[in-house]
Amino acid sequence: MRLNTKYTNEIDPNLDENKIVNLSGWIHEIRNLGGISFLILRDREGFAQITIVKKKTDKLILEKLENITKESVIFVTGVVKSEKKVTNGYEIIPTKLTILNKSSVPLPMDPTGKVDADLDTRLDSRYLDIRKEKVLTIFKIRSIILNIIRNYFQNLKFIEVTTPKIVASATEGGTELFPISYFEKTAFLNQSPQLFKQILMSSGLDRVFEIGPIFRAEEHNTRKHLNEATSIDIESSFCNDEDIMKILENLIYEIYIKLNNNYQYLLKKLDLNLKIPKIPFKRYTYSYVIDILNHQKKNKEEYIKWGSDLTTKDENDFGKYVFEKTKEDHYFITDWPSEIKPFYVMRNDSDSKLSKSFDLMHITMELSSGAQRCHNYSDLCLQIKEKGLIVNDFDFYLNAFRYGMPPHSGFGLGLERLLMTILNIQNIRETVLFPRDKTRLSP
Ligand code: AMO
Repeated sequence: MRLNTKYTNEIDPNLDENKIVNLSGWIHEIRNLGGISFLILRDREGFAQITIVKKKTDKLILEKLENITKESVIFVTGVVKSEKKVTNGYEIIPTKLTILNKSSVPLPMDPTGKVDADLDTRLDSRYLDIRKEKVLTIFKIRSIILNIIRNYFQNLKFIEVTTPKIVASATEGGTELFPISYFEKTAFLNQSPQLFKQILMSSGLDRVFEIGPIFRAEEHNTRKHLNEATSIDIESSFCNDEDIMKILENLIYEIYIKLNNNYQYLLKKLDLNLKIPKIPFKRYTYSYVIDILNHQKKNKEEYIKWGSDLTTKDENDFGKYVFEKTKEDHYFITDWPSEIKPFYVMRNDSDSKLSKSFDLMHITMELSSGAQRCHNYSDLCLQIKEKGLIVNDFDFYLNAFRYGMPPHSGFGLGLERLLMTILNIQNIRETVLFPRDKTRLSP
């Protein structure tokens, strides 16, 4: 039901015969066949055919339609009549029609989707692009997934928080920062809520989640990187890395199950058959991954050195290995070298070269990183120094570790990558209304 009582109905596949309806939306198509014309009206929910038999239609309506253009916005009052030739089984015979706003012509792109446009043209005219049913469906599902995530965490008694996006220092390493001018100082757009969600663990909030923007000045323009992305971050006290991995895999499972059980009508619009992942996800240690990958190499020069980060190719190669072995799409890589994980990650008790960290992988890309955190003040200072960072820069964060910081763990999960993998989307820009990448700052 629309909020404005004047526009009461939405297009619905089940409108009753002879019902009088008020519909408002865009003119998707106009078909003039001499004595009869068809307007295809489109709203957020679908399409309805407005049938205008010229001899039987009020002259006022016919006059209004004389110069009407596609994508104009109209308001129609009419009677529902069943009509088998129309996909949703009915047509509307109009008794009143108002043109609320006429569209200019020609359109910068075709919102019916019949004429293809490249991604840049589509993003330049995103307001038209989103009028396409498939594109609109992506954003309906994005909203549903956010709801599922919020419910999931609220049921686990996590408290939703929001933390500053304007910050004084780097979180995830110094190179990927966007500086901004902040009065007389230089500030930065935050790369991650990491330090704030950890500070909150010592505040007694215990278990928090945040869904918000993260800013990364990534130089590379790839199909899975954005300069502004949305991160689902959690942090929980009195939890270790394994506890958090369970929370994460259950979350992924819940999203698939809820979408599959309740939103088939949307999945169908994207021709999707969801494959429900099996939990628990398989866990592979970093060392195991390197061994398998090196085993696949033809000559020794190509060997991956223990301690180096995995490249996209390595991720893809190991993804293939996992899929062949398990037929599953999700898995964890655990026990990463401390050297390539951030300073806040806890080291393994028995071997400090290893950390209590994990990445959640889809066979096509990384979805999430997480870890148990170092909660001991002096160890943390040492780890900051070892990464070549200046301890004093982190005082605002470190102070929270001096007066009662519980052991804690958490993860960050990229919403756009999650959408890409669930909806089988090849370019991350498709999952954001107004993507930000190296060349796109507008709209
Ligand atoms: P990390 O830097 O691995 O970890 O980020 C977590 C997840 O966020 C998503 N992501 C991105 N998505 C699109 N474009 C980007 N440029 C981009 N950068 C990151 C990915 C990634 O897996 N503080 C830690 C998390 C934690 O330990 O809690 C962090 O930010 O899906």
